Amino acid sequence: MYNFDEIIDRKNTSCVKYDALDAYFGKDDLQPLWVADMDFKTPKVINDAIIKRAQHGIYGYAKASEKTFFLVQQWMKERHNWQIQTNSISFVNGVVPAYSATIEAFSNEGDEIIVQTPVYFPLFKSVKENKRILVTNPLKEENGHYTMDLDDLKSKITPKTKILALCSPHNPVGRVWTKEELIKLSEICIKNNIIIISDEIHADIVFKKFTPLASISKEISDITLTLNSPGKTFNIAGLNCAYAISENKKILDTFNEIIKKRELNSINVFGFTALESAYEFGEKWLESLLQYLNLNIKFTKQYLENNNSKIIFIEPESTYLLWFSFKNYSISHAKVKQKLLENSKIALNDGTSFGTEGKGFFRLNCALPKVNLEKALSKIVTEF
Ligand SMILES: Cc1ncc(COP(=O)(O)O)c(C=O)c1O
Repeated sequence: MYNFDEIIDRKNTSCVKYDALDAYFGKDDLQPLWVADMDFKTPKVINDAIIKRAQHGIYGYAKASEKTFFLVQQWMKERHNWQIQTNSISFVNGVVPAYSATIEAFSNEGDEIIVQTPVYFPLFKSVKENKRILVTNPLKEENGHYTMDLDDLKSKITPKTKILALCSPHNPVGRVWTKEELIKLSEICIKNNIIIISDEIHADIVFKKFTPLASISKEISDITLTLNSPGKTFNIAGLNCAYAISENKKILDTFNEIIKKRELNSINVFGFTALESAYEFGEKWLESLLQYLNLNIKFTKQYLENNNSKIIFIEPESTYLLWFSFKNYSISHAKVKQKLLENSKIALNDGTSFGTEGKGFFRLNCALPKVNLEKALSKIVTEF
């Protein structure tokens, strides 16, 4: 019914993944499997809604309607069994800008913010840019499987620790944190008056049950501000429409003050249109997408095994981002990178961009037609 095999030329569409290769990697003859967006068309229903809105011909300042709030509530309830109130939601023009605003909202210069590395780099970059002190609580890795190191976390908390940035599900390691893991983490934060900013942008692309952090209990919800968006789920990240949720009025009011001050609360008119049609009509497409991604993931695993590759790769519980470990090769990280770029001619995300713990890893985005995935894998296994 939906054609995820369609090959679409994305070059010259002002698209970072294809059009910024030269700027980022210094060459553009690479097959791009880096930036976290998909090479699939957004569902037709969203495209049609955007076209219809464009035909109106006036694109003045936009605001969320009652329906926009309702659809976010409905999505959270039906997809994630999380009941939230209208006045717990605040729209913002991106998860990353919102995250940066939370740093100003809930900490002062010189305060400490804990980030669980390796992790999506803006979560630590923003800490430094906002002149806060970055404290890392590295995840524990055992044969490619990751867990949180809560003893390390406890040992790093000081009176200056104000925020813990949670990536849930986790990019790039692909974990969907269990309810038990989330409860244990939250207990530590509650005890130490630490606010959790829970970046849940990958929540819909999951292959096992996902639990929104703030849905677990009133105590946890009271210390949490959640960030989310339909951007990853429906491939509409370029429309810049995201939202924050907190059921603690004080937390949401404080956040809202900062987003007003930073002028982050003006949303692209097409962003609202896309969010509404996605959350109202996009569910069937999403189910098909998840099946296709799951097959691509399984195909990758099988392909590496069939070719006796020594690349270690654990199937992710969430995301279309595959965390490849090259640690079985007795060559340096720099040499792996060089071989990927010069010989395989593949653009992957360098693991070290997610923190020093990413050394030996590269991240491959498998949200692309299977034939192109196979092409990329074949170029990789020829070298590795
Ligand atoms: C964990 C995480 N948060 C946020 C974003 C980006 O969010 P936005 O485009 O809404 O700023 C990404 C994109 O890859 C991500 O992986």
